[in-house]
Amino acid sequence: MRILGIESSCDETAVSIVEDGVKIISNVVASSAEMHAKTGGVIPEQAAREQVKSIIPVLIETLGVDKNGNDIDAIAVTVGPGLIGSLLVGVEAAKTLSYVWGKPIIPVNHLVGHLYATWFKKVPKFPSLGLVVSGGHTDLVLIKDHGKMEYIGGTRDDAAGEAFDKTARLLGLPYPGGPNLSKRAQEFLDKNQKPLIFFPRPLSDEDNFEWSFSGLKTAVTREVQKRKLKEDDIPEIAAEVQEAIVDSLVSKCVKAILKYKPASFLLAGGVAANSRLREKFESELTSKNIKVDFHVPEPKLCTDNATYIASCAYFNNQEKDIEDIDANPELTIQDKV
Ligand code: KG4
Ligand code: ZN
Repeated sequence: MRILGIESSCDETAVSIVEDGVKIISNVVASSAEMHAKTGGVIPEQAAREQVKSIIPVLIETLGVDKNGNDIDAIAVTVGPGLIGSLLVGVEAAKTLSYVWGKPIIPVNHLVGHLYATWFKKVPKFPSLGLVVSGGHTDLVLIKDHGKMEYIGGTRDDAAGEAFDKTARLLGLPYPGGPNLSKRAQEFLDKNQKPLIFFPRPLSDEDNFEWSFSGLKTAVTREVQKRKLKEDDIPEIAAEVQEAIVDSLVSKCVKAILKYKPASFLLAGGVAANSRLREKFESELTSKNIKVDFHVPEPKLCTDNATYIASCAYFNNQEKDIEDIDANPELTIQDKV
């Protein structure tokens, strides 16, 4: 079964074709991130306009010679969460194709979708513990089966990606903050140095699966002011910001793995592209001799794209009537679509 996936929740316009939920036939992503770099962040109205401009060229490129969708069995689309203007572009495009081609349409929750990016290398065994770390969300879930998910914990304030983005801005680094901050941190780590500063890891001693990242902004602001930030200070501060976020995520997830004893652990969402985070999960699980299959997508499938939207739709096949499909910017990972 071939599913055409459409993803337009923020500043990426993505369309892909996936066969039987695990085989990527085509994957095209257009990003307006460069435009947002000029303003230091996403301006929703601008992002939506770029979605409108990109959706048809991206669709045409994905479909190739199969312009009439003859090889497509169903259309999957992100209905939320995200920016309403951006979401509407993908949702309306999907509805139009479904109507014109006479093919079923399957709505997908973007956050649940992220987890399915781990399905392409090797299919994970259930039960799974899944951590979704994206620009707006940090959610830990226990997945017993497709469509059977229990919420374990999440952030009380900023998301992990938001913490990367906001602290990067305090260091004067361009949007998108996460990858840029990570690059600067790597300069420091490549010299085998240890940061002499220490940023807090809030809630780390508490017996729960919650995070708090908003205090990191205050700690970085204080450090920037104290040092009267110079170019040379950036790699060290970036390295400690990254370590504080990575430490918090890894230590709580390891506790959750020990408690719930899942067969697999899935790391997903844009922040999962972070090499220090991937490396620390691997090394902690190995050094503590924890028996769990660790799944993390290749970096380009961690950030927003439509492959996992199509895959999620395949495994949770919940067709709906066109009239019942609506964009919902406020969806949480627990919401059914
Ligand atoms: O999942 P995603 O592409 O979009 C959302 O659904 O939000 O995640 C975007 C987030 C941004 O906060 C971005 O800075 C962060 O993922 N990110 C990274 C890296 N690549 C993307 N954060 C740290 N290191 C990276 N290499
Ligand atoms: Zn995302």
